[in-house]
Amino acid sequence: MWRLLCAVAGASLTVAVPNGQSRHVDAGVLRDLNEIEAGLYARNLTAVKSVLLTVAGSSNLTGEEVDEILDGVNGIVNDTLEPSVKTDFAIAQDQMDGFYELFLKCEEDQLHAFNRSVTDQASIVQFTSSHELCRKQQSLIADQVVSCTTLLTAAESIQSAKCTLYSETDVLPTTPPCLSHGGEDVEAYHERQIQEFEASLSNLLLRKHECGNATERLTTQRGQCTSANTSLSDVRNECDFKQLKLDNSVCDLSAKMGIDCAAYNTCRQQAMYSFMEANSSVSVTEEELKVTWKMLQQVRCMVDAAKNRDPHLVAICSERKNYSVAHLTINYTGVPPFAPCQTLSEPPGSPQYMEAMYAKMPKNAPVSACQASCCLRNTTFAR
Ligand SMILES: *[C@@H]1O[C@H](CO)[C@@H](O)[C@H](O)[C@H]1NC(C)=O
Ligand SMILES: *[C@@H]1O[C@H](CO)[C@@H](O)[C@H](O)[C@H]1NC(C)=O
Ligand SMILES: *[C@@H]1O[C@H](CO)[C@@H](O)[C@H](O)[C@H]1NC(C)=O
Ligand SMILES: *[C@@H]1O[C@H](CO)[C@@H](O)[C@H](O)[C@H]1NC(C)=O
Ligand SMILES: *[C@@H]1O[C@H](CO)[C@@H](O)[C@H](O)[C@H]1NC(C)=O
Ligand SMILES: *[C@@H]1O[C@H](CO)[C@@H](O)[C@H](O)[C@H]1NC(C)=O
Ligand SMILES: *[C@@H]1O[C@H](CO)[C@@H](O)[C@H](O)[C@H]1NC(C)=O
Ligand SMILES: *[C@@H]1O[C@H](CO)[C@@H](O)[C@H](O)[C@H]1NC(C)=O
Ligand SMILES: *[C@@H]1O[C@H](CO)[C@@H](O)[C@H](O)[C@H]1NC(C)=O
Ligand SMILES: *[C@@H]1O[C@H](CO)[C@@H](O)[C@H](O)[C@H]1NC(C)=O
Repeated sequence: MWRLLCAVAGASLTVAVPNGQSRHVDAGVLRDLNEIEAGLYARNLTAVKSVLLTVAGSSNLTGEEVDEILDGVNGIVNDTLEPSVKTDFAIAQDQMDGFYELFLKCEEDQLHAFNRSVTDQASIVQFTSSHELCRKQQSLIADQVVSCTTLLTAAESIQSAKCTLYSETDVLPTTPPCLSHGGEDVEAYHERQIQEFEASLSNLLLRKHECGNATERLTTQRGQCTSANTSLSDVRNECDFKQLKLDNSVCDLSAKMGIDCAAYNTCRQQAMYSFMEANSSVSVTEEELKVTWKMLQQVRCMVDAAKNRDPHLVAICSERKNYSVAHLTINYTGVPPFAPCQTLSEPPGSPQYMEAMYAKMPKNAPVSACQASCCLRNTTFAR
């Protein structure tokens, strides 16, 4: 502000002195006007006052000359100094207002980031339920494997029993069984032998059939268990993949949130730093402008008094301080509240994370250790 005022100082004189009369201005008038002007730019009220007192009480100057000086002073005040105060005030106020925008920019960026993370979180919810569904299916198939294995064990022992029986029967007798019973006639002997051989043959065939049946059922059961085991391992792989996808998306979100947070904090810090700088420089400017404004009003008052050739009133004016400077009060912008930045509290792979994400999984379909990019390595889910 100071330099601005000084820069126009040289030009003020010709503005101050009406063009038509400038040629006739006498040396004393010029000197007095120069002195007042210098006092004004130096904001030295004492200097201005002393010249105005002299002018007001001078017997050497004509009335015209006195008026010329005083109009010149008013001109400097009206055309240069007051507008300059107002301009500087507007600049300072603009500077303050600009900061609110600057802070809002940080908030807006964060809102964008938040919106993005909302989208990401929605897909995480999707991945979570898809994974959960998969583990439930895995659990069902695991149940099937268990019951199939039980049935298989049973089929194995039945088959083994039946075929042992068959193999015990499936041998040729080492001693001829064809002894006659006492008192038996030959025909009866043959009848009995035929019946015994037929019974023995049918028993042999039955056991053979039962062994074959049991073996067939065992084969069928084993086939079922093999395919149940295959589908269990397939579905487990599928679920592990879904889990990896889920964990990875949490890793991504976590990373993004970290970056967004850092960006927001930096944005706020930078804005805050320049805001504090500007705030204090503006508040210094504000005080200077108010002091200058009051001085200009005092000068007006003194000029009016001098016009009445009243040195006493000039002195009184130099003491008057009750000028309103309300219009030069800066409206200091507040700083928009700091929105605490969200980060993911539980890092993927941590026990808390595993508990929060996977505690609900069926006991017979446990999740695998976190394999995702950002997972804390070497953590397994201990129930
Ligand atoms: C103001 O002007 C008076 C008289 O011209 C001078 O004595 C005084 O040193 C000046 N004060 C300042 C602060 O420049
Ligand atoms: C008036 O002018 C005379 C000489 O011209 C000078 O001696 C005197 O100091 C001046 N008085 C004032 C008040 O300027
Ligand atoms: C300066 O401004 C005041 C008040 O705004 C006015 O009364 C006065 O006539 C003006 N003087 C000049 C020379 O412009
Ligand atoms: C954030 O999302 C809401 C609702 O989807 C939308 O109204 C708003 O404009 C978005 N804001 C930004 C900064 O993207
Ligand atoms: C052998 O299996 C068949 C069909 O699988 C069945 O009809 C039959 O009753 C079974 N026989 C025995 C002795 O288990
Ligand atoms: C199926 O898996 C179970 C448990 O892993 C195992 O005990 C059984 O031997 C497997 N059965 C077959 C037929 O592979
Ligand atoms: C900015 O300056 C004003 C005036 O000095 C002061 O009242 C206000 O507390 C300052 N603001 C901050 C955030 O420091
Ligand atoms: C300022 O004080 C003077 C007397 O010292 C008084 O005449 C004037 O009305 C006051 N002005 C205001 C705006 O209070
Ligand atoms: C100060 O600025 C705030 C925010 O821009 C505005 O709402 C308020 O009206 C202003 N106050 C004044 C006195 O200009
Ligand atoms: C896993 O952790 C155990 C102890 O917590 C440690 O002894 C082991 O070296 C770790 N293994 C790896 C691969 O980091």
